[in-house]
Amino acid sequence: MTQTDGATRARRMRPGTRKAVLAAHIVGSVGWIGVSASMVVLSLVGLATEHPGIRAGTYHGLAVLDETVMGIAALLSLVTGVWLALGTPFGLIRHWWVVVKQILFTLVMIGAFGFTHGWVLGGLDEALRTGQPTGDGRALAFGAPVMLILLIATAVVSVYKPGGRTPRGRRQVSRSSGTREVTVTEVRPLAEDVVGLTLADRKGGELPAWEPGAHVDLVLPSGLVRQYSLCGDPADRTSYQVAVLLERDGRGGSREIHRLRPGQRIGVRGPRNNFPLVDAPAYLFVAGGIGVTPLLPMIREVAARGLPWRLAYLGRSPRTMAFAADLRASAGVRLYPKDAGRRADLAELVRTAPPATHVYACGPHRLMDALERMVPAERLHVEHFAAAADTAPKRPFTAELARTGATVAVPAGRTLLDAVREYAPGLEASCENGVCGTCRITVLRGTPEHRDSVLQPAERGRTDVVYACVSRSKSQRLVLDV
Ligand code: FES
Repeated sequence: MTQTDGATRARRMRPGTRKAVLAAHIVGSVGWIGVSASMVVLSLVGLATEHPGIRAGTYHGLAVLDETVMGIAALLSLVTGVWLALGTPFGLIRHWWVVVKQILFTLVMIGAFGFTHGWVLGGLDEALRTGQPTGDGRALAFGAPVMLILLIATAVVSVYKPGGRTPRGRRQVSRSSGTREVTVTEVRPLAEDVVGLTLADRKGGELPAWEPGAHVDLVLPSGLVRQYSLCGDPADRTSYQVAVLLERDGRGGSREIHRLRPGQRIGVRGPRNNFPLVDAPAYLFVAGGIGVTPLLPMIREVAARGLPWRLAYLGRSPRTMAFAADLRASAGVRLYPKDAGRRADLAELVRTAPPATHVYACGPHRLMDALERMVPAERLHVEHFAAAADTAPKRPFTAELARTGATVAVPAGRTLLDAVREYAPGLEASCENGVCGTCRITVLRGTPEHRDSVLQPAERGRTDVVYACVSRSKSQRLVLDV
């Protein structure tokens, strides 16, 4: 049997069937745990009581539970568990935690049917004949709690799914893959609806080095992960600075960040740089709103090198434009607040820039799109702070995972990331909307269809990489280094 077979089987279980089988599995398993807990209590009562009638009654009760509800619940849990394993991507041996679950389950079954049943009948027999505690009764009082503990452990593994497949499992994987705990040392208003955070290592150590253009993932107390550009000084290894715009209609990450207070701890992953500063004779920086943040360290660096630069900073109003007050004093900066009626003539800015100027821009998509029409791709570097609307039709294709030989179908309604994670649950991802670059996979064969906002305009023909959360394949088959 190959893993391709597994994927084929996985598609056989319809979502409705899967829900029904899962519900039956939960009912069977919870019922089994409940009956086992009752049997633990009865076995202890049977052993401890001095009253022969109560002892006989408890063993009667144990026998009834053991021969009726227990068997039905165990059978239901077993059949539905195997059905789910075979009918879903989990499989029977594909993930280590499924194998652990099976071992625990097997131990419980051996205990329940190999020992407990005999102990119950032996205890009942002795209780009816002599009214005294017996060896079987003592064995049951010891064995029943052990069975219960194994059963609960099986359920915990089943629900928790360590190492992936659940948000919690993925958080665990990501923690083990480099999330650093930092303390929020300062929260300060930078503009209307914009706060600046200063983050320092929890133990006062140095933070990883970074270069202009880099961003970090903030892992918030709720588990949400959001990406923000670093806007401080790369030479300062004691802290990171980020600026966060409150998005009232967003998915909640910026609201949570705006509620953070000094002293709170959060996680940081990275830094990662999809927007590096390349050598050029001159630079034109174009910022749209909060998109100014990755450009600030670049401007400092370029100014320190003594190279010519200009910044066009577009915003709604001076009130909403973070860092505008500081930037205003610089000769190379021009602010374009919309409410003051100042519109940037981008074409003019590009046209009057020195020859071979490289343009760095960060802001909303329409600003980036306008620049893409004016600046040659090899001199344009953009960073989007939101995903582009993806309305292009999605075609199904097949992904082949070269390291395992597994082949997985990627239907139109599914992402490549989701499909690959069936076989590589620890595959890292963060934004899952094509902005952060975390889910990058090396492509060995085939032609990716890039739908991400990470690749630069000059890189969109690349066939060696794919950002699996949003990108797809132009070729029928994509061979990945996974
Ligand atoms: Fe962020 Fe894919 S997870 S680009």
